[in-house]
Amino acid sequence: MKIIFLYIMSFLLLNAQSDRYELGKELYIKNGCYSCHGMKLEGLHQYPYLANRAKGYMVHKLKRFRSKLSDNQQQEMMIPFAVGLSDEDIENLSIYINEFVEEKNKERYDDSYQIHGDGDS
Ligand code: HEC
Repeated sequence: MKIIFLYIMSFLLLNAQSDRYELGKELYIKNGCYSCHGMKLEGLHQYPYLANRAKGYMVHKLKRFRSKLSDNQQQEMMIPFAVGLSDEDIENLSIYINEFVEEKNKERYDDSYQIHGDGDS
């Protein structure tokens, strides 16, 4: 009986966790985070990559930005994107970032490197 209970509990916990991943993903899109950090969380130039980075650190940084604290002028760019986030939002975003898996075959276009038919360049 105990075993079954534990089994059900762990299933519920895992499910709750993956819901948070989906919630985090929605927030990431809705808040336009992708416009700087990328759809694959890969970053670009001065915008840091985020994919699979430590959750605690992401939470820490987002809360810092939300409190309008930054270490340099470049980081100030993050403040307007963090001020509207609740603790719950930050938690969900950080779970999404930390557990990020690239969705294969779900891309709107295939941007993988083409070896054939590149015009003989
Ligand atoms: C206008 C561009 C822009 C947008 C939009 C943006 N960011 Fe950022 N983000 C930055 C910049 C710039 C930094 C700071 C880079 C540095 O430390 O030099 C940063 C830093 C971060 C960091 C800390 C990373 C680190 O290495 O310290 C996190 C976490 C982060 N952003 C998450 C988000 C999330 C979540 C969103 C959406 C709510 C978002 N960002 C939207 C530009 C942006």
